[in-house]
Amino acid sequence: MNEFITHTQVEEAAAAVRSRTNYQPTIGLVLGSGLSSLADAIEDPDIITYAEIPHWPASTVPGHSGRLVIGKLEGKTVLVQQGRAHFYEGHPMANIVLPIRVMHMLGVRTLIVTNAAGGINAAFTPGDLMIIKDHLNMLGIAGNNPLRGPNDDAFGPRFPDMIDAYTPALRKLAKETAVANNFNIQEGVYAYVAGPSFETPAELRFLRTVGADAVGMSTVPSVVIARHAGMRILGISSITNKAVPDPKPGTELTHTEVLEIGKLIIPRLTALLRGVLKKI
Ligand code: HPA
Repeated sequence: MNEFITHTQVEEAAAAVRSRTNYQPTIGLVLGSGLSSLADAIEDPDIITYAEIPHWPASTVPGHSGRLVIGKLEGKTVLVQQGRAHFYEGHPMANIVLPIRVMHMLGVRTLIVTNAAGGINAAFTPGDLMIIKDHLNMLGIAGNNPLRGPNDDAFGPRFPDMIDAYTPALRKLAKETAVANNFNIQEGVYAYVAGPSFETPAELRFLRTVGADAVGMSTVPSVVIARHAGMRILGISSITNKAVPDPKPGTELTHTEVLEIGKLIIPRLTALLRGVLKKI
């Protein structure tokens, strides 16, 4: 496992996908913890396991399936990444984001990313959906940006802009879709931390102070890479638990809880994604 990925490695991975499907996807959809079953909605799918694709990082986390599902949803050709690799599993940062470069090489120009996240904003309740409007890349700020290393000019510039990384028109569309389906949707800033330990009360106090509304262990590296390549991006967090510095005594956060609340959110998230895809 190298620290950085090469253009050739991305080409090899993209060629493996191309040889296994006749679809030409234009929209990429990344499904986070507990949200994998959304891929069941894909019509006439071609299914490719991660093990069939060279250089593709495997996910070892329960709740992450490890397959690409390519097919039709709401009339659009979608490539679904069912399960993702995380930094805490031991992958170098550059490997985690290889799938996004592969998607771009296959023709994907819009990326929809979902995740499970802890709700830092006191107004958030487990079961809420949150449109990501901006992020805090805690690892990136501290030196582990996925673009660290030689820049691949074929994808984008050395110093990409990150203002409005989460495409305003797609955020608006997501809000309108929630209204049309009669459910509330939050909007906020997602803080990316490495994990796998959940945050201490002091860390949550810190994140709240610097403007985070939600916290999680994924998504942001993918968004940086997608933005670098000029893709349109929509990020949706499922708020699976309260992430507050003063929890009720006796409440302890577990991954099982994250997965269970994730399941409850699926019908709304499905309606949201279908509505967005229809109009995109
Ligand atoms: N913290 C970090 N990641 C998470 C959380 C959390 O509280 N919930 C789901 N993913």
